[in-house]
Amino acid sequence: MKILAIESSCDETAAAVIEDGRTIRSSVINSQVEEHKLYGGVVPEIASRRHAENICAVVEKALSDAGETFSSIDAVAVTYAPGLIGALLVGVNYAKGVALASGKPLIPVHHIRGHIAANYLTHPDLKPPFLCLVASGGHSHIIKVNDYTDFEIIGRTRDDAAGEAFDKAARVLGFPYPGGIYIDKAAAQGKRGEYKLPKPKVNGSDFDFSFSGLKTAVINISHHAQQKGESIDVNNLAADFQGTVADILTDHLMRAAEYTNSTKIVVAGGVSANSGLRSALEAACKKHGYELYLPKLSLCGDNAAMIGSQAYYEYLAGVRADLSLNGVASMPVDQAEPGRCIAL
Ligand code: KG4
Ligand code: ZN
Repeated sequence: MKILAIESSCDETAAAVIEDGRTIRSSVINSQVEEHKLYGGVVPEIASRRHAENICAVVEKALSDAGETFSSIDAVAVTYAPGLIGALLVGVNYAKGVALASGKPLIPVHHIRGHIAANYLTHPDLKPPFLCLVASGGHSHIIKVNDYTDFEIIGRTRDDAAGEAFDKAARVLGFPYPGGIYIDKAAAQGKRGEYKLPKPKVNGSDFDFSFSGLKTAVINISHHAQQKGESIDVNNLAADFQGTVADILTDHLMRAAEYTNSTKIVVAGGVSANSGLRSALEAACKKHGYELYLPKLSLCGDNAAMIGSQAYYEYLAGVRADLSLNGVASMPVDQAEPGRCIAL
């Protein structure tokens, strides 16, 4: 089954053709990051406008790279939640237009479910159940994936997402947006141990995390140094910050694995590209005898291939949308599609 998938929830306009949920026939990503960099973060109005300008060319390229046409694909899938509402609406309305004109089924996909599915494209043998850490710019969750469309939230951030903490710390250290990758590179040049950073605990939960105190600690270290006319060692502070985030995520994930009796561990989202997190998880999973699945670097960030993969499993579960499908800015990963997305 060939699915044309569309993703426009944030600042990437993306389209892909995916076969049977596991094979990437084409994947096109138009990133707006250089423009948003000028403002230090994503400007929603600009994002929507660029999606509207780019979506036709991006979809046409995805179809032609795959050697397909609107009539030869079997279904169209789109990210409908969560994300920037104006950005989501561009993809949702485009996909509705394709579905109406072609008569093909329309499959609504949750963005975080898509991030998890990036692992189905990376690891052909991976099947649920497994325990998944999702760490992206907007979300940080530990999720028990019971089946392709059955999700159970075990833990979540109480404040900033992991990627958001990376981006805010990076800004303080003088790096451009999005700063995660710059911290990763700086940390590789630095050594841990110079800066003491907190590992905040969350009252009443073993699995929830909190990153805002850690981010504030980096801001305070930087401001105190400035006030005293001292300089900070950016590489060492980056190494301490990245190492602390990796420790927090790894410790929580290992506790959740024990609690849920999971031995298969999967990681997803933009922050899963982080080399410090990857090595901390590799070491911890080796120690506990768990199997670890990491997405290909090219599939960690936002893309439409992951949406096409998840769409296949949503389709098999009977999920379809009608033409009243709307974008939804905020929607938990474990919730069913909104009422208007009917399971046939
Ligand atoms: O999943 P994603 O592409 O978009 C959202 O759905 O949010 O995640 C973007 C986030 C940004 O915060 C970015 O700084 C972070 O992922 N990120 C990284 C790395 N590459 C991207 N964070 C740490 N290390 C990296 N190498
Ligand atoms: Zn994302």
